[in-house]
Amino acid sequence: MSFTSQCLPLFCLIIGIDPMKLPNPADLAFMAALPDALVCLDGTKIESPVAWQSKRRPELATLIQHYEYGSLPTVKVSPVALPIHENKSAMGGKAWLREFAVRMGPKAPPIHLLVLLPNSKVSQKMPVPIFLGVSFTGNQTITKEPGVRLATCWQYDKYPGVEKNLATEASRGTASKVWNPELILDAGYGLAVFQTNEVDPDNKELRGGLQPWIRDQEKHTPEKWGSIALWAWTFSRMVDVLVQDPSIDSKRIVAVGHSRLGKTVYLAAALDERIAMSIPLQAGCGGTAPARGTVGESVKRINTAFPHWFNSRFKEFNDRPQALPFDQHAMAALIAPRPVLFPNASDDQWANPDGQFAILQAADPVYKLLGFEGLASQIKPPINVLSAGRLGYWERAGKHEMNTDDWKVFVEFAKKHLGS
Ligand code: GCU
Repeated sequence: MSFTSQCLPLFCLIIGIDPMKLPNPADLAFMAALPDALVCLDGTKIESPVAWQSKRRPELATLIQHYEYGSLPTVKVSPVALPIHENKSAMGGKAWLREFAVRMGPKAPPIHLLVLLPNSKVSQKMPVPIFLGVSFTGNQTITKEPGVRLATCWQYDKYPGVEKNLATEASRGTASKVWNPELILDAGYGLAVFQTNEVDPDNKELRGGLQPWIRDQEKHTPEKWGSIALWAWTFSRMVDVLVQDPSIDSKRIVAVGHSRLGKTVYLAAALDERIAMSIPLQAGCGGTAPARGTVGESVKRINTAFPHWFNSRFKEFNDRPQALPFDQHAMAALIAPRPVLFPNASDDQWANPDGQFAILQAADPVYKLLGFEGLASQIKPPINVLSAGRLGYWERAGKHEMNTDDWKVFVEFAKKHLGS
């Protein structure tokens, strides 16, 4: 059970914000610079951790949902994880592999969660810290281990082993260099993964996966959740499952996602305090890059190409992102003081790496107010150098992708802040 999404009305009660009474997008004033994370809508400057926690933090959680992602589903669920496959000695004996069908209700379509834990720790009865990832592709792509379920939901065409938007046997193991399970297990961490397309197919024309079931549970309007918010909500439902598993260290769950799925894990960690660390990789516009940015993707472009990702109000900022009463550092501020790492690639200017560093700088005062180091330095680190403060930054040479070099840094960052 949880957490912020389900408690949103409570937040509103505590701080007296009624989302229905927030200004219309057209009535919001322009702010050319990134808004001060510590100044409330009513102009109050936050000067203590208590005021942050009781007033500004819930306000920001409301604002980001109201004007950008849409409010998360309010349906209360208790996910049930039914084991569908297990191999205690997978990957040459290295891994305890399990796969679960997670249902939000008896009639809800299942979300399949693959969980790999290192036997080196399991055999010593040590709860395992874990990376929880959200994937573009099905569980069978993460490892070639036999028995992992072949995804049956709609797939993106461009991935290997996909034919007519369906996964085939040829897709097995094809994302092993994206998710790098061996490297993760060797580091003493576990890896759990599920696929967004089972939740809500990433296609503006399609309604499938869990989405129709959620729509049946509550009245949906265009101001409510878009796909990113629904993916983030489901991410938290997977956290519900992991925190109940005694073999997993519930205090050390690290959220990982790439690009649009980076946007997803950034939002999920902002709204779910059980997530110990977030790694939104190359998450760009609508994620870790400023909406006010002038490099790479714009609010108008993302809303036009991917109208299903955000809510209807966000479209009203297409030509005036400067009127947003927050910017993308709101999520890092909500994550504070937990660690968050923005990994980037220098060829990927679409995701605006420099703008992302500015986002970390704008979140830094919140970490300081809470008594923690945010950025290790106010200067953007050189290529291939990890800046490993709680507001972490890393940029490698190369293109838009998640690869083995990225994972070496994720593991280093996780070990630094959460231990091995
Ligand atoms: C597109 C989109 C980005 C997104 C990326 C991805 O490039 O414009 O916003 O992050 O796809 O998810 O790979």
